[in-house]
This record gives sequence, C-alpha cells and structure tokens, in this order.
Amino acid sequence: MLFRRQKSLVGLDIGSSSVKAIELKPSGKGYRVSAIGVEPVPPDSIVDGAIIDGGAVADAVRRLFTNKRFKSKDIVASLSGNSVIVKKITLPAMTEAELSESIYWEAEQYIPFDIQDVNLDYEILDAGTGQDSQGSMEVLLVAAKKDKIADYTSVITQAGRTPVIVDVDVFALQNAFEANYGFEPAAVVAILNAGASAVNINILTGAQSVFTRDVSIGGNAFTEAVQKELNLPYDAAELLKKGHDVEGATYEDARAVLRAMTDNVLLEVEKTFDFFKATAASDRIDRIMLCGGASRVEGFAESLRERFDTEVERFDPFRQISCDAKKLGIESADDLAPVAAVALGLALRKVENR
Ligand SMILES: Nc1ncnc2c1ncn2[C@@H]1O[C@H](COP(=O)(O)OP(=O)(O)OP(=O)(O)O)[C@@H](O)[C@H]1O
Ligand SMILES: [Mg+2]
Repeated sequence: MLFRRQKSLVGLDIGSSSVKAIELKPSGKGYRVSAIGVEPVPPDSIVDGAIIDGGAVADAVRRLFTNKRFKSKDIVASLSGNSVIVKKITLPAMTEAELSESIYWEAEQYIPFDIQDVNLDYEILDAGTGQDSQGSMEVLLVAAKKDKIADYTSVITQAGRTPVIVDVDVFALQNAFEANYGFEPAAVVAILNAGASAVNINILTGAQSVFTRDVSIGGNAFTEAVQKELNLPYDAAELLKKGHDVEGATYEDARAVLRAMTDNVLLEVEKTFDFFKATAASDRIDRIMLCGGASRVEGFAESLRERFDTEVERFDPFRQISCDAKKLGIESADDLAPVAAVALGLALRKVENR
C-alpha cells in the first residue's frame, strides 16, 4: 500500500464539552490504546461546531498532551455540524480522471456555500459499471468550509501540535464501528453519537454510509432544561443531570424534566429516520449503535428502543481494541468508552487511509 505510514497519528476529537485524544499501537493482528485523555472545554467556547474561543480550546488541547504517553505530534481532527456537507450525488458514469476534472463544477449545484470557500473531497460509491446502473454513477461528496477547517487547525497549532488530516465526525464513528464490530453485508445500522450540542447520525448499509446528518440538540439542552425548571445554577444542573443530588434539589426532582427532554431529542432523531426512509433505498433500520455522553441520561437507550422498536446496543469502541486503564493511568475504560468513539475512529485513520 502506497500510503502506509509507520508513524502513528493521534486522533483528536474537539467536542464542545470536552476534547478527547487517543493514540494506538499495533498489537497482534489489531491495535491497542497506547495513550488516552479527556479534558473539559469551558462552556460556550464552541457553539454549533464553530470555535468561538480558540484560546480556551487550545488550552484544553495543551492540557491533554501534558500526558507523556502521547508520542506523536501529528494530529487527525474532525469537523461536524453545519460546517460540513455530506451528500450522495448521482452523475452520468465517467472515468475517475473525468470525475476529478468535473467534480468542482458538479458540486457547485449541491453546496450552499461559494465553492471557492470549501475544500472538497469525494468517494466513488458506485462507478456505474454494473448492469443495473443505467449509465449513472454514485459519488459521496464531502465539502467543508475552509474557514472552519482553519479554525480547528489553528487551535491544534496553538497547542504545539501538527494538524495532518481533518476528517468528519460521522466517518470517524464509522471507522471505529468497523474496527470493533465489522460489517454485516445486508444490515442497516444507525450509529448515534449524542454529544453536548449535537447528535451525529450515520446510517450504514453493510460497509457503506447511506445517510448522515447532525441534529442540533444534545446534552446541553438537558442541562438547560433542568436549570430552568428547577431554578438552579448551570453547574448544579449539570451535576443533577448526571445523578448527583445538589443543594436545593434531588435527582428525583429532575427525572420528569430529563424524560421530557429525551422525548424532544428522540423526536428529532425520528424526523431524521423518517427522512432517511422516505429518500433512501431502505425503509428499515435493523440496529442502533448508541454512544456519546448525552446517551447516558437515564432511560435514553430504553426510550430509543421503545420508540423505534429496534435493537439498541451500546457502542463500545474498546470491544476489539484493548484499553488497559491501569497501564494508561486512567480510572476506568468503561467511563471513557461512551465518549471515545470519534477519537478512536480518527486514530485509526493512519492505517485505513480512506
Ligand atoms: N452520566 C451522564 N448523564 C447524563 N449526561 C451526561 C453524563 N455524562 C456526560 N453527560 C453529558 O454528555 C455530554 C458530553 O458528551 P460528549 O463528550 O459526547 O459531547 P461533546 O463531544 O463534547 O459534544 P459535541 O460533540 O456535541 O460537540 C454533556 O452534555 C454531558 O453533560
Ligand atoms: Mg462529540
């Protein structure tokens, strides 16, 4: 393989509530985690995927790398939200050379930004050479705004590291899923990553991503609802949400609020699923893989299962990739597992090189 690199890369997930980093080492036929860390990001430093306070985010990243177990300075980061557009487009069948010539021109009609302002990437999903392709090909188009990419890479540079690749959250999730679960050729699997400000959704059929969307609601909305309903400071509401009693309120008081907010989030997920079913070739979802910090809200997974009458499984990014807490200087791998999938998928990028 032309691109096989010996040097490892660090996967860095710049989330709006915390930054997470993972580095991997080959181990047997697979990998093991050789370094891992999470550092909080101050509220409102990142809003809707846009970095508002670069200094604060860079500080968090710098704190991550005071952990000397991280060896490489080269970073794979990712974007999400409305600064990235992922679209499957159908074009007349053409050669790869023709496609690379015309992709900018073709992309223009699918992208709501000035084409000068975006970096484009694409992957041929179906070359159109098959019998039933009727002279058309399918291409997955990925466009990211240049200024957003620059904001993310500059934070990394400020923290003394070298940004090498900027990927997309939903694709990182897919990589992490493949490494830990493999693919069932005919299964329709929805990966849900419920973070602080968004739920990243990637629906796969076998190995192929057939639908992606980021829904702009997440853990913050739960905290804000608790804060408002129970008249608490933000920090107290955040603690209460996670099951700790605080001054002036007990967890029992928050239950109803959390349940109502879970319904709100699931309604958004349902709209996305409905849209997928109406527009894609498949009208079913066989399995939901669930991760992200907000998915730990009590009853979230159960509500998901009930609402969609679908198997819901906790997405464990350390299922096949060992994460030995003792050796890594962390308290418990299980605590990090729900928020580690994106960083793990990014760390895998060096070998997969998609
Ligand atoms: N035990 C818990 N119960 C409820 N919510 C939790 C729990 N632990 C973490 N959370 C919530 O999960 C969210 C953080 O999850 P995560 O780290 O996946 O988000 P992020 O990557 O920082 O955000 P985003 O990707 O949306 O920018 C926060 O809103 C946090 O309050
Ligand atoms: Mg996240």
